[in-house]
Amino acid sequence: MEKKGVFISLEGPDGAGKTTHFNFITQALQERGFNVITTRQPGGSPTAEVIRKAVLGTPLEEPMDYVVEAMLYAASRRQVLKAVIEPALANGSVVLSDRWADSSYAYQGWGRGVLKEYLAIRDIAHKDFWPDYTIFFDITHEESLRRLSLRNKEFNRLNQEEDEAFRKRCYDGYQSTITEMADRFVVVDGMRDVASIRESIHRWLDRDFVPKHRHLQHYPR
Ligand code: TYD
Repeated sequence: MEKKGVFISLEGPDGAGKTTHFNFITQALQERGFNVITTRQPGGSPTAEVIRKAVLGTPLEEPMDYVVEAMLYAASRRQVLKAVIEPALANGSVVLSDRWADSSYAYQGWGRGVLKEYLAIRDIAHKDFWPDYTIFFDITHEESLRRLSLRNKEFNRLNQEEDEAFRKRCYDGYQSTITEMADRFVVVDGMRDVASIRESIHRWLDRDFVPKHRHLQHYPR
C-alpha cells in the first residue's frame, strides 16, 4: 500500500475524555482543510463492529479467556485496517481512531498479563503498522476510577471490573509504551478542564501538525 495520509490514534484510561475530544479534533482537522476519516476500536467497520459486540458484550457466566480477548481486539484492528484505514491513507486522508493497539498493550498486555501472547498476535495482525501520532489523555488510575463511578456507563466487562490494581497495571503499561515510542506520542494532561485541553490540542495542530502535513490540506481535490 502506498501511504499518503496520516494515522492518528487517541488513547487513555477509561474516563480520560478521549471520546469527548474526538469530535472536537475531527472538526479542528476539517477546519484546517484535511479530509478526515473517523473510526474506533474495537469496531469501526461493519464486520469489526460484530467483533466489538463479541468482545465487549460476552456473558459474565463464562469469562472470556484473556488470550482470546487479545485475539479479538487484534482481529478487529486487522479488519478495520484492511477495510477502512489502508484505503483512506492511500488517498491522502487523515484517519482518526478512538483507540488502537496501545489499548491492547496496556489492557491485555499489562492489565491482563498476557503481554507475550499479545506481541505475537500483534505481529500477525499488523506488524510494523503504527499510528503516526498518538494523542494520550493522561489521567491517573485513581481519577479514572473516580470518573467511572460517577458515570452511568453502558455495560461492558472491563468497565465493570473496577479493580484498582488492574487499572494501575494498565496505566503503567501506557507509560511504558510512551517512554519506548516517545516520538509518536502527544501527551495531553487530562486532569485539566476541557477548554485548556482544547487549547493545547489547537496549539499542537497549528505548530506541529499542519506545518508537516500542509500538502494534504484540501486533498483529495
Ligand atoms: P471504549 O470504546 O474506548 O470505551 P468508552 O468509549 O465507552 O470509554 O473502549 C471500551 C473498552 O475496551 C475500554 O474499557 C478499553 C477496552 N479495550 C481493551 O481492553 N483493549 C483494546 O484493545 C481496546 C481497543 C479497548
